[in-house]
Amino acid sequence: MNAQQLREAYVKFFEERDHAHIGSASLVPENDPTVLFTTAGMHPLVPYLLGEKHPMGRRLVNFQKCIRTGDIDDVGDTSHLTFFEMLGNWSLGDYFKEESIEYSFDFLTNVLGFKKDQLAITVFAGEEGIPRDDTSAEIWKSKGFSDDQIFYYGKANNWWGPAGITGPCGPDTEIFYDTGQPKCSENCGPSCDCGKYTEIWNNVFMEYFKNRDGKYTPLKQKNVDTGMGLERVCRILQGVPSVYDSTVFKPIISKISEISGKKYVDPYLRDFRIIADHVRAAVFILADGVVPSKIGQGYILRRLIRRASRNMSKLGYDGPFMSKLAEVIVLEFGRSYPELVENKEFIFTSLTTEEEKFQKTLMRGLKKFNELVVENSDVKVLRGDLVFALFDTYGFPIELTAELAMEKGFTVDMKDFDNRFKEHQNKSRMDINGTFKGGLADNSERTTKLHTATHLLNAALRNLIDPNIRQKGSNITQERLRFDFNFPRKLTPEELQKVSDFVNDSIRENLPVTCEEMSRDEAKVLGAIGVFDSKYGDVVKVYTIGNVSCEICGGPHVTHTGELEGFKILKEESSASGIRRIKAVVGKF
Ligand code: ALA
Repeated sequence: MNAQQLREAYVKFFEERDHAHIGSASLVPENDPTVLFTTAGMHPLVPYLLGEKHPMGRRLVNFQKCIRTGDIDDVGDTSHLTFFEMLGNWSLGDYFKEESIEYSFDFLTNVLGFKKDQLAITVFAGEEGIPRDDTSAEIWKSKGFSDDQIFYYGKANNWWGPAGITGPCGPDTEIFYDTGQPKCSENCGPSCDCGKYTEIWNNVFMEYFKNRDGKYTPLKQKNVDTGMGLERVCRILQGVPSVYDSTVFKPIISKISEISGKKYVDPYLRDFRIIADHVRAAVFILADGVVPSKIGQGYILRRLIRRASRNMSKLGYDGPFMSKLAEVIVLEFGRSYPELVENKEFIFTSLTTEEEKFQKTLMRGLKKFNELVVENSDVKVLRGDLVFALFDTYGFPIELTAELAMEKGFTVDMKDFDNRFKEHQNKSRMDINGTFKGGLADNSERTTKLHTATHLLNAALRNLIDPNIRQKGSNITQERLRFDFNFPRKLTPEELQKVSDFVNDSIRENLPVTCEEMSRDEAKVLGAIGVFDSKYGDVVKVYTIGNVSCEICGGPHVTHTGELEGFKILKEESSASGIRRIKAVVGKF
């Protein structure tokens, strides 16, 4: 079974069991300042897990694009990926453990053809006052699983969430594929990483909310959140040694081989895999409107492109190549993710521009490196602070510095460099974690007001500046809104004043904000604008603000624009070629 067949079989199975198919949400969490990327299928569903009514009902299914950057350094082995797809089904306060386990068991054995004795199960052993999950264990036993196929683990293994610092979470039961190879030791079990077991599916019983103090309280409703990694399952079903050998990556790997003239064999396996993973991730991130930059999502994107570029040089190929690879990726994934096809020109150009920029950076770094060599020719040592500056200011990779230094008979003070590098990493981690500070699904009063202001701003730009303006990104923190849109030049101070006046007039008029659920077609007829078209499937929520704005959106919003009190633009700047960015705040000014 290939990836497309697996996606289709999964969705069909759950649709037949009354689940509504919702589209994959954007990789950039919409109006959620707490995380950089969507990391799991449940992520965009947090408000609904907390009790808000979902327009498509209480049973949902989808395949969701996800990015997890925590494992970026492990990419290149047989299983780690930065970008992956997660198949998921949800019960929002509807069915619970019995049906959830029944569905998973039925799908794995009857649709995918796994035998019961190829599977192993883990359940929550109980911890921190939360009881052991005997119910799930009993359900598995009733399906014929023996005691030695069921393993009990604590929170470290059998608890999932919250995705941020606060949010919905709960014990889970996980299903593993047992390769059948002998146990590596007496204690070997699904939590062991000897390779005997591979996790297939995680069924989370989300019935708790973790608050800021780390306390768990019961949620209003008992939910089911499941996640199955598409690439892993393809690998198992196709019986291949790594995810990169599955049909998901085959065409990408072949193209890298064609471009570089190298074969996908040692010593190049790792480089091939890193290039394939990183360029695929970059293509999907670009398709969601992110552009390479120094911060946030843009920084991750830049890092992925640069790492891929470095690994391609290791294969002996130095020119821009990513748009050629991106063509294959768009072709392979465009059917399931139409945004790739819609944005392909932007994706191709952005990749090439960024590759060229990196080449220039490298040239500048090389010049600086040569200067350092001359300046330090008496000691023949490059101090840690100099090497770090090369890395930090010139984006010059440390491996490259080390290689070149060796060629010149120099040594590098790696210890000092490492210390500086660790400090830098801790700082960026802190910066990134800082984005978690509101907790997941931060629907606070402040962010809600900023969200409504974003709709007014969008309307103002389209009404007063150019009707072709489209939202290319939105990010809201407690402090400010940030809105990216397509426009070829800087806005004049007069234009900015007009936009700001329009929003402030709308606030003074205290316009009502209303929400209606309707089909996508009805929303189109109404003239609603929507950026994240694929998010909600067929029934959508449309938010209308007086007669100035009408947008497809998941909410939340204030009830009257007067609550915003006032609006002020802090900054208008370029975010990427053809994309402008406005930062603004609300309040009394
Ligand atoms: N949210 C769960 C996971 O990511 C299903 O594993």
